[in-house]
Amino acid sequence: MSAAPRVIRTKNFVADAAALILEQARKAVTEHSEFRIALSGGNTPAPIYARVAMEAYDFPWQSVLFTFGDERCVPPDDPQSNFRMARQNLFVPAAVPGKSIMRMRGEIDPQIAAQDYERQLDAIATSRGEPIYQHDLILLGLGDDGHTASLFPETAALDEMARRVVANFVPKLNAWRLTFTFPLINHARHVLFLVGASKHPELIERVLARDRQFPAARVNPVAGEVTWMIEE
Ligand code: 6PG
Repeated sequence: MSAAPRVIRTKNFVADAAALILEQARKAVTEHSEFRIALSGGNTPAPIYARVAMEAYDFPWQSVLFTFGDERCVPPDDPQSNFRMARQNLFVPAAVPGKSIMRMRGEIDPQIAAQDYERQLDAIATSRGEPIYQHDLILLGLGDDGHTASLFPETAALDEMARRVVANFVPKLNAWRLTFTFPLINHARHVLFLVGASKHPELIERVLARDRQFPAARVNPVAGEVTWMIEE
């Protein structure tokens, strides 16, 4: 069991989240000349990404590798696309170079897209002598049902303990998703949950109490830290 998570409750949610991300980015680049960050999707992160872009106009983006913790199985220009949201709020305004972005291909067969993405991560991990790709920071959200990334309750991906990236059918959405698995997430150096004020306080407390009926409660990095930034 890793150390207890750090919980930050703040009224300055967007500013504080952006500051923490940039603090982690600068620390990683200083310590090992690169910053490997996985972006979360949905609505909560959008203003945070915009704030990061605004504050980090001079950041060495060529030293950053952006991955995605999950993606909807839609084309990159679809309003549902997490890549589209990140591109609009961060990649374009911050002029992030294309080679710093690893997009999950939501527009192709989900199984092939997941295998392809996993192979890309594995190749980088191998080049760095890592048994499994190690993110410096993984951003995660919290769904109203306690899902995180696209690890939804009662879906197959919850039980995946070998693969790093899978296609996951979500019956409640009647849709396929691409998602990191717990093995990949739990290899991160740092996981940052970003939880907006719309989330139910009782859900947050039960997840923090590690109630395993909620997938987010099963994020437990083997040798990393977890921070919860919660908007008041
Ligand atoms: C996604 C996200 C998902 C999200 C939660 C919370 O693709 O939707 O990765 O895990 O973080 O559903 O979404 P909101 O921020 O929109 O509440």
